[in-house]
Amino acid sequence: MSVVDINTQNLDELIEREGARITRDCFRAGDVVVVTGCARGFGRAISRRMAREGARLAIFDVIDDEGENVAGLCRDAGAETAFFHCDMADVDNIRAAARAVLDRYGTVYAVVNNAGINPRYAALDVPVEVWDRTLNVNLRGTVFCSQAFAPAMIKAGRGAIVNLASGRAIEATPNGIHYAASKAGIVSVTKTLSAEWGKHGIRVNAIIPAASETRQPLEAVGVTLEDLRRRGTATPAGRVGHPEDIAGMVRLLLSEDAAFITGQSIAINGGRIMLP
Ligand SMILES: NC(=O)c1ccc[n+]([C@@H]2O[C@H](COP(=O)([O-])OP(=O)(O)OC[C@H]3O[C@@H](n4cnc5c(N)ncnc54)[C@H](O)[C@@H]3O)[C@@H](O)[C@H]2O)c1
Repeated sequence: MSVVDINTQNLDELIEREGARITRDCFRAGDVVVVTGCARGFGRAISRRMAREGARLAIFDVIDDEGENVAGLCRDAGAETAFFHCDMADVDNIRAAARAVLDRYGTVYAVVNNAGINPRYAALDVPVEVWDRTLNVNLRGTVFCSQAFAPAMIKAGRGAIVNLASGRAIEATPNGIHYAASKAGIVSVTKTLSAEWGKHGIRVNAIIPAASETRQPLEAVGVTLEDLRRRGTATPAGRVGHPEDIAGMVRLLLSEDAAFITGQSIAINGGRIMLP
């Protein structure tokens, strides 16, 4: 475009015309979506939301009975759904589950790396095994699950990955150096994967939830649901998060309107973390 063109009154029309040629790929009904940590909390809500949106689902967890129960709820909503036992700390297990998913469905559109653990230890006390297990489930599992499905997405020329990070990745909070490191790692690998796989039509983003109404903050911090809800009244939104808030953001990140969003870690926290 020449300087003369920039100065014409037709510039907006020209940009509009050219913009109409941009293709915005997104989730379509019938696309296969993988959700890890599907049995409880966010994973359960994300699986059920994507079932209502018409996804074909492959859902992973280590709690087989509760995972199968969620699969049944998704099928009740009309979605073809298969549950796979998969321990995200075990890379061989991840690769075997990914092969089983691809054998069954042939391809995959989206992976939601949601499974996570949050055992509480002060930095002075954290045992090496707890450090390793937390990093393996939360961070290594996220990377190798993404790696296991990326070739199918690359072949299809389209795909999306959503990783669950945490406010702990960016806040200074005690009693979880291993968890904070795993979640900061997720913010980082989200950027790297977006940079490497963008050329294949794959977008990679992360969600940063604040404390939400699931088992994890109750068990990890040892508070009651009422305590957790009371803490939430201090947020600008006046409440803590709900699994549906996170499921909604996953849906948004898979939509056409998120086609230009990649490499981002987006806070869903009722305004609690205010960055300048
Ligand atoms: N709830 C919150 O307040 C909160 C805040 C920030 C981030 N997060 C993150 O969101 C994600 C979901 O959290 P949640 O609150 O729903 O937790 P949750 O404990 O309610 O559910 C976690 C799910 O992951 C599964 N899981 C655990 N270890 C696994 C493994 N090795 N392999 C496969 N599945 C495994 C569990 O069985 C469970 O179904 C986690 O990554 C968590 O760290 C949660």
